[in-house]
Amino acid sequence: MAFSRITGLGFYVPDNVITNDDLTQWMETSDEWIRERTGIQERRYFEYGKDTNYSMAAAASRQALDRAGLTPNDIDVIVYATITPDYFFPGSAFLMQRELGMDGKPVIDIREQCSGFVYALSIADQFIKSGMYKTALVVGSEIQSSWIDKSTAGRNTAVIFGDGAGAAVVSATNDPQHCILSTHLHADGRFAEELYVKDPGSSREGRPVSQEVIDGGGHNVYMNGNAVFKHAIVRFGEVIQEALEANGYTAGDIDLLVPHQANLRISDYVRQQLGLAESQVINNLQRFGNTTAASIPIALTEAWETGKIQEGDLICLAAFGSGFTWASALIRW
Ligand code: UT7
Repeated sequence: MAFSRITGLGFYVPDNVITNDDLTQWMETSDEWIRERTGIQERRYFEYGKDTNYSMAAAASRQALDRAGLTPNDIDVIVYATITPDYFFPGSAFLMQRELGMDGKPVIDIREQCSGFVYALSIADQFIKSGMYKTALVVGSEIQSSWIDKSTAGRNTAVIFGDGAGAAVVSATNDPQHCILSTHLHADGRFAEELYVKDPGSSREGRPVSQEVIDGGGHNVYMNGNAVFKHAIVRFGEVIQEALEANGYTAGDIDLLVPHQANLRISDYVRQQLGLAESQVINNLQRFGNTTAASIPIALTEAWETGKIQEGDLICLAAFGSGFTWASALIRW
C-alpha cells in the first residue's frame, strides 16, 4: 500500500504591498475597522505585466520542486486550485504546465474556493494511494485584486482579499509513519449564493458578457459575511474533529493547525474550541489577507521555513469557504 507525503513546499507573493490605509484611497474604510473585524493589516496585489495567476503558481512550484530535489519532469500530474484563473478556459494549470515545460503531463483544474488546496491535496493523495501516479504538484493560486470591487459598495469583501500562490510536491512513500493520514471533504450547495460571483454565467438570456450584465454588478463578489462567519466557526471545528477521530487522536495530539486564512477572529475561535495555544496555530493573514486557495500552502510553507514543523509532528490543515465547502487533512510529518 502506497502512502503520500509532502516533500517540498513553496510560495510566491507579489512585491506590491497594500496596507489598510492604502485602501482608503478607493473606499470608505479604516485601518481600525479592518484590523478589529479581520486582523488583516496588509495584503499583496499583483503587478500587471509582471505577475499572472499561472506565473505566481510556477514560481511557488519551482521553489517546492527545488526543495523536494526534483525537476518539473519528475511530476506525474498537476492539481491546480483557483477561482481566479487567467482565462475563462482552459484553466491556469495548462498555462503553468507550459511555463514549467511539462508538456504531455496531465493537469486538473479545480475550484472549490477557499477549500481548493485541501481538495487538491486530497485528489493527489488518492492518485498516489491508488498507484496511478507517484509524484504530484498541488497548487493554489489567486489574483483577487483585479476582481474585487474597490469602491465603498464592495468594501465588505475588498478589504479581505489578497493575491499569492503556494505549492506542494506530494510524493509516494511506503512509510505509514510520515504521510498524509487522511483527508475529509464536504460541500453544501444550499448555500452557494451566500458567497459567490454570479457573472459571467452561461445560464442567462443573452450574452454572458454585455453592458447590461456589467451594469447589473453580478461580476462583483457577493458575500453574506455574517452567514459565512457563523457556518465557518461550526464547520472548522467539525471537520478537524472528524480528521482526529478518523485516526484515533484528540485535539491535544495536534502539534500545529494550519487553517485557511479567512479572519483572525474565526481562527481564534477555532483555536480556543480545540484548546490549542497561540503558538500552535499559524496565522499570517495579517500580512497577506485572504488568498483563497493559496492561503493554506502559503501558511504551511512559512511554518516550515520558520522551523515550526518538525519531523514527526501532527499537522492539521483545515478550510472553509464558498460553496459552502469545508475540508481537512491530517498529516504526520
Ligand atoms: O474565505 C472565505 C470565507 N470568508 C470568511 O470567512 C469571511 C467571514 N465573514 C467575516 O469575516 C465578516 O463578515 C467580515 C469581516 C467580512 C465583515 O464583518 P461584519 O461584522 O460581518 O460586517 P458587516 O458586513 O455586517 O457590516 C457591519 C457594518 C456595516 O455598517 P452598518 O450597516 O452597521 O452601518 C457595514 O457597512 O460595517 C460596515 N462595513 C465596513 N466599514 C468599514 C463593512 N465593511 C466595511 C469596511 N470598512 N471595510
